[in-house]
Amino acid sequence: MEGNRLPAGSTEPRGPAGEGGARGQTVLRIEALQVYFVKKRLLEKMTVVKAVDGVDLDLAKGEILGLVGESGSGKTTLGRAVIGLVRPTSGTVTIMVDGEEKDVGAAKGKEWKTLRTHLQIVFQDPFSSIDPNMRVYDALRLPLQANGVKSSGEISAKVSDVMKRVGLPEEVVNNYVFQLSGGQRQRVGIARVLLFNPSVVVADEPVSMLDASLKGDILNIIERESRERGVAFLFVTHDMAVAKVVADRIAVMYLGKVVELGPADEVISFPFHPYTKAMLQASPTIDPSMKDKIRSVNIVGELAQSTAHPSGCKFNPRCPYVMDLCRQKEPPLAELKPGHVAACWLH
Ligand SMILES: Nc1ncnc2c1ncn2[C@@H]1O[C@H](COP(=O)(O)OP(=O)(O)O)[C@@H](O)[C@H]1O
Ligand SMILES: [Mg+2]
Repeated sequence: MEGNRLPAGSTEPRGPAGEGGARGQTVLRIEALQVYFVKKRLLEKMTVVKAVDGVDLDLAKGEILGLVGESGSGKTTLGRAVIGLVRPTSGTVTIMVDGEEKDVGAAKGKEWKTLRTHLQIVFQDPFSSIDPNMRVYDALRLPLQANGVKSSGEISAKVSDVMKRVGLPEEVVNNYVFQLSGGQRQRVGIARVLLFNPSVVVADEPVSMLDASLKGDILNIIERESRERGVAFLFVTHDMAVAKVVADRIAVMYLGKVVELGPADEVISFPFHPYTKAMLQASPTIDPSMKDKIRSVNIVGELAQSTAHPSGCKFNPRCPYVMDLCRQKEPPLAELKPGHVAACWLH
């Protein structure tokens, strides 16, 4: 799992050169993205949930970008906006397809359908997207047919190719999805997205429901697909330890905003933001010797309601280092080391 952790835009290869070819060109650009939800209940005041509140991120070919944050920080909403499942309130998501830039939010009809094959999503619970009463073969055949692959020879070749890539034995194709173990089910979930040779995959907590040993298997598949085929992953997790194992870079999200972003080793070993430090301490599987290096950061309280963001730095009510400035003004993301940015007035 070792590799040089490169920021987007670098042209150096991370691992052995594979079919994916050159790494490093930007394949996905998220710019000034906001997703607000308006909630209105009878006899109640209207409230606005700022689920994503101004995010800029790039994803390079073959890169695994870990998106880390507590539950409610806006990770899933960001991931869904990236693949066009929720409409942004403002901002854009651009994907590069055959050297051309495509605006995900503006695509319609046939163009949208094509874009969607390049942009895929893996969910935490594969049951949410796959009918458990289907045979595995059908779970893989139907999406192909829906996208115009008609020849049964081509279908069975593609099915057998993805089954190998995710480590499912051939005979499993005849099983019903409900008969599979949790790990096998998630392999089918991943196989389904790999059928289309996507350039970008949003993986939303893909291993959170799995035991430790199965986690590693799934992370290996993701690593290999990124290295050998240049698939870029936006890997959403609440667990720093998982991000540490799989990600090239880590983005830490708090109440709709990225508060720290940098090469994974850097963010884990030399975090700048007090929230990142707290996340690292909360992660039970991070090497304990590493934890000692991080000065004890005890954050207080719960994630603020995303309808009532505090003024200034959103983290200020929970931050042990809070200063007056933090309550008055929101800190911008500043580059504190090459490729490593954080939004904190302490730095
Ligand atoms: N469809 C929706 N309608 C209203 N609020 C939503 C909707 N989806 C998410 N939210 C709210 O947006 C915030 C971010 O949620 P989410 O993106 O699921 O965070 P995470 O994945 O980090 O747990 C939460 O406050 C959540 O309640
Ligand atoms: Mg989520």
